[in-house]
Amino acid sequence: MNLFKLTLFYFLAFTQTTLAQHKAVCNIPEPGLVLKTNIEGSPNYFFRAFPDSDKVAYNGDGTNFVMNMKTGEKFSVPGSYDPVPLFDSKTLTTSSDIGFYFYPVHSNKETTKEEVNLFDKDLKGTYQSVGEIQKINSISKYRIIVVGSEFKQISYAEYLADSSTTPSRINRTKLKNGLCAEKDLKLPMISKDGQYLAARENNASPPRTKIYRITAEDTCEEILDLGLATGKVDFSFDGRKIVFHIDTLQSVDYFNDAGDSTVGNMNVFEMDLKSKKIKQLTYSSNGHSYFPSYRRDGKIVFIRNTGEEDSTEKYSFILVDPKKIKGLQIDEQPPLSTELNCDANQQKDALSAIGQAWYKICAKADTSHEQGFILGANLSREKCLDLVQNYSDSIQLPTSWKLEKKELIKLCGGMSQAKSNKTQPTIKKIVSAKQDPVSIFNSKCAVCHNDNEPFKDPEALKKWPAKLTKGAKTWKDALPMRLKSKDEAFRMPKGGELTQDQINTLLNYID
Ligand code: HEC
Repeated sequence: MNLFKLTLFYFLAFTQTTLAQHKAVCNIPEPGLVLKTNIEGSPNYFFRAFPDSDKVAYNGDGTNFVMNMKTGEKFSVPGSYDPVPLFDSKTLTTSSDIGFYFYPVHSNKETTKEEVNLFDKDLKGTYQSVGEIQKINSISKYRIIVVGSEFKQISYAEYLADSSTTPSRINRTKLKNGLCAEKDLKLPMISKDGQYLAARENNASPPRTKIYRITAEDTCEEILDLGLATGKVDFSFDGRKIVFHIDTLQSVDYFNDAGDSTVGNMNVFEMDLKSKKIKQLTYSSNGHSYFPSYRRDGKIVFIRNTGEEDSTEKYSFILVDPKKIKGLQIDEQPPLSTELNCDANQQKDALSAIGQAWYKICAKADTSHEQGFILGANLSREKCLDLVQNYSDSIQLPTSWKLEKKELIKLCGGMSQAKSNKTQPTIKKIVSAKQDPVSIFNSKCAVCHNDNEPFKDPEALKKWPAKLTKGAKTWKDALPMRLKSKDEAFRMPKGGELTQDQINTLLNYID
């Protein structure tokens, strides 16, 4: 072998191993994956899974389709917005600004306009969702809500549908314009029994998703505040769970309209309404997983957008069984290693740094401390070791730290065994899973302010003399000035940066 060939050989061998490693670390296994079907063209955001089959109804490039995820076969149905099936799967609804349509669904051919079951000119609006308030044999009573484009209000109508005939016989029994009109609700979705609404309350500050009971007077009684803004919520058929996506690269309480799929990193979460525990179901290393929709069996369909332009793999429908997904959950008590020479908070920060490195490498983006921690604390031991051993440059630990690579390896080593006694998080914990002030001082300030200042004692810290800050006598005065200043030479931490959350945490600490 001559030198050139030898070099080429090494070059190829080397690039191949690095590519393989890159793939291995980014590819988080999807244990609950049941089915994946690529979508031709671009699907609209809004689609629905059929309750009892592998079919999905969606709008692709302006045309409504019913597709069988197993065979890939699809047939068009009239309408150009938001196709949503009734629960017997025989009828598809589609909304518009001039009225509401019901069409029969065929398993082997398209549906034509002439086949319309019912056109209701009085129910105007889009983004419909369907609940079934009663069912006796073949007759169901449905409550359907739409968001009116004209009045921006939520309207609903109730229909009796008899599915013993083909096509089903459908009649309207009630129409109401202005549901929960006392509130400013966005992205409303009705529960499967028609009694509850999930929506983003726009007047709340910050705007966030809440669950309401629909009262007999058609007002909304708040029963749950998720504490964060999510994409459109879907209720499970048994009413016990909800599923939604949030953008994991944005701070969790920031509302992202989820309309723009070219930014951020959307992932799917399921929440148990009774325990309020939530579990993250997807970890898109690139692109997004969004607008999840339940089937009656509790399985979930969502769209994955890999962001790979001009690829037939860009969009797909993914069917998962959430029961098979252990869920990577945030936890107050991270997996702790007693062999390590640092406290629980520092280990938490280290895990966050490892998780953040994963996002940097795989999603090519910076993520929050919280999201980094959720991922870092739940990586398998192998993935954690892979990151520490092969990507240590991407793991940014606070500069004041003495944790060495071999100690991070120990941290990874302690992971799987500590995992078993973890409890699921509640949604509040995710929202408020901020760093505590002492660990911020330790990681961001102590490197220069070596152990003179009483960081662990807020009362003493307040009174600590500030000799180098004009206009301040003590740290109580100096800290806000130093943290909030726009002057880089004066602002703390010198040469570094804190997030707004971290700044608030420190200011509250000495308040
Ligand atoms: C890279 C070194 C460095 C880091 C990191 C750093 N500081 Fe400082 N800090 C200094 C120096 C040097 C001074 C004094 C000189 C000056 O006024 O800038 C100072 C001054 C201060 C003062 C004013 C004290 C006085 O007596 O007036 C406060 C308050 C302060 N720092 C808070 C913090 C906090 C809080 C953090 C962490 C979030 C932090 N610093 C991180 C170097 C640092």
